[in-house]
Amino acid sequence: MELLIHSMGEFESLITPVLDLVKPRKLVEVGSEHGGLTTILNSWTLSNDAHLLSVDPAPSEKFKHWAQNAQCFTHIAKPSLEAFPELQDIDCWFVDGDHNWYTVYHELQNIHQHGLTYQKPVLAFLHDVAWPCGRRDSYYAPERIPAEYRQPHSYDIGVTLDRGAIVAGGFRGLGAFAWAIDEGGPRNGVLTAIEDFVAPHGEKYSLALVPGVFGIGVLFTSDAPWADALTRFLLPYHQNSLLAKLEENRLRNYLKVIDFFDQANARAV
Ligand SMILES: C[S@@+](CC[C@H](N)C(=O)[O-])C[C@H]1O[C@@H](n2cnc3c(N)ncnc32)[C@H](O)[C@@H]1O
Repeated sequence: MELLIHSMGEFESLITPVLDLVKPRKLVEVGSEHGGLTTILNSWTLSNDAHLLSVDPAPSEKFKHWAQNAQCFTHIAKPSLEAFPELQDIDCWFVDGDHNWYTVYHELQNIHQHGLTYQKPVLAFLHDVAWPCGRRDSYYAPERIPAEYRQPHSYDIGVTLDRGAIVAGGFRGLGAFAWAIDEGGPRNGVLTAIEDFVAPHGEKYSLALVPGVFGIGVLFTSDAPWADALTRFLLPYHQNSLLAKLEENRLRNYLKVIDFFDQANARAV
């Protein structure tokens, strides 16, 4: 097993029963990376006569190789906000692309509008709603974010628990993405984006927050035909304090491992 599990695929035991309950015909995954979740969703679509679309401008070679022969599957090599106008009649969304306020807030606006256009209830799984991205933007491509929404950021420095500013060392993107320099405040982070999206809709939407593996949110239309059954299923996971404690423990241990590596590397030079 990896030192730090991070894929949304780790939520298979939560996601698959929801798919069995809701029976979506068309699913979209935003952010496929190595395909950790994609292959799980694709197995489900193959067994359930459904179709999966994956939106990622820069997935890994492993993913691209797998995608060449995948059935009931389409890959769109564009950023989400460019790809969304091409999507039609979607029943279920998995959002795990660029983890910043601007992108997630506008992805949700698109998803909401899509639901109105196709007269469908919304069901969206959103990853990285807890630390480190819940209240802090990260940017795979800062130039794609309009300047007025972009937090001051850095590719070079890391983040750690208990400190809102970035630090030397800590958990870092190693050139793949940049962190916002400060945690918290308006228009910063994935959970802030979800809250800002939900607030004007009152009780139209329900949101469950599951505090493991960087946190997953499940957002759905409160009066969907399956909403009561989904609520009963998700309730034991929602803000579960044991899961939150286990997550904090693994993050603290991982941060210690990074620290040990950094100290060893510093001694070696
Ligand atoms: C954290 S990884 C996704 C992990 C994957 N969902 C899983 O659970 O195994 C994020 C991915 O999002 C992609 N990405 C970055 N910005 C994006 C955007 N605006 N739209 C769609 N995908 C994006 C990156 O190329 C990267 O592969």
